Amino acid sequence: MLAIRTQFSNHFNYNAALVVKSPGRINLIGEHIDYNHGFVLPAAIDKFIEVAIGKRADGAIHMVAADLGETIIVPTHNLVPHPTAWVNYIIGVVDQVLNITHATTNNFIVTDNNTPSTKINVPTNETNLAAGFDICIQGNIPLGAGLSSSAAVECAVLFALNELYSLSLTKMQMALMAQQAEHKFAGVHCGLMDMFASLHGQKNKAILLDCDSLAFTYYPLALNDYSIVLFDTQIKHALASSEYNTRRLECERGLRIIQEKYPTIKTFRDISLEQVEECLAFNANTKNEMNEDKVEETTTIEKTAKVYQRCKYVVEEIRRVQLAVQDLAKGDMQAFGKKMFETHKGLSSLYEVSCPELDFLVQAVSNNENVLGARMMGGGFGGCTINIIKKMAVEEITKKLSASYAQLMHKELAVYITSIEEGTHLVA
Ligand code: GLA
Repeated sequence: MLAIRTQFSNHFNYNAALVVKSPGRINLIGEHIDYNHGFVLPAAIDKFIEVAIGKRADGAIHMVAADLGETIIVPTHNLVPHPTAWVNYIIGVVDQVLNITHATTNNFIVTDNNTPSTKINVPTNETNLAAGFDICIQGNIPLGAGLSSSAAVECAVLFALNELYSLSLTKMQMALMAQQAEHKFAGVHCGLMDMFASLHGQKNKAILLDCDSLAFTYYPLALNDYSIVLFDTQIKHALASSEYNTRRLECERGLRIIQEKYPTIKTFRDISLEQVEECLAFNANTKNEMNEDKVEETTTIEKTAKVYQRCKYVVEEIRRVQLAVQDLAKGDMQAFGKKMFETHKGLSSLYEVSCPELDFLVQAVSNNENVLGARMMGGGFGGCTINIIKKMAVEEITKKLSASYAQLMHKELAVYITSIEEGTHLVA
């Protein structure tokens, strides 16, 4: 990989104004609950996207994806989703910045403490973002592995624009804008975790994000004899984003049903397991008594049964993360690891976002005394499992697992031993 500054000057014949590096992320626990007002525990890792950027004056954005050898040019006026996927992560955030005045009035910009929005400097005429820019991107985050390469691109670009045009955005504002960009330009109704983690990461620390208040706390990750190892199924399911959006809708539906009975409930945070049973489980059980001929009715009831399963998982996972954080604070990594296995079970059987390859990888290490915890990570339907493994056993476990994965799943296992690194930053 050539240095990003060299890539930029080779391509544009002048030196980049600045370079930004933005990492991918892991998530220790708290999966699929960032969009359900839960808690997540992510950290930034040693895989990253770099961007080099410089201003133009002709109203165009020239984008170079160095790894792919692709160049795309679009005008800054009338930005709309582009058929080339990676382009959307760049123009999506440009669209956010250009619409910043609307954004503040639409009230999705909040500051780090969830206090009312601070004023954002809209770019002035001399430094006008609408006049365009050149940008070159490259990175080493494996695509589709569930390590948030798209969020890393969005955060790197937004951070670079923030510096280049002196926008004075806070990191939380940038995270919220990147999330909106993903909704609008990539069509994935993701939560805030990925962007938040990429921007806020700190070396050797996990971050507990309260996805309701947006308050966050850093937890030192003293893993001592243990490593965080990611096993990449190398499976990238096309269904992932449509199923992701469906899960969101199923959860919203469950919440609405529970709120009908308990109108004071605002979010999943306020719901007990008993209430899930009371309001949703009855419908699930009725399925068994259904007349098989009534296909339409069965389908509706099956959907309701799914709603029950999704909500049960969400309520359990919210509670589990709260307990896992106590384990972490006490340094009880055994107890923490057990909860990771429980999360996997819930994601696989109740939330149904796993796949045979992910289940295989978790199952294969579940009785290994050198593995504290393992589970699928991120959106699911492929991507990685996250494992906490005793350092001295990593090599042997990796070797055995790679062989059995190849034999039984007919795929090559990719393995990443990760370190926890700093979030999005300028590179000197
Ligand atoms: C994806 C989304 C996140 C989060 C995870 C699941 O990574 O982008 O917002 O919902 O899935 O925890």
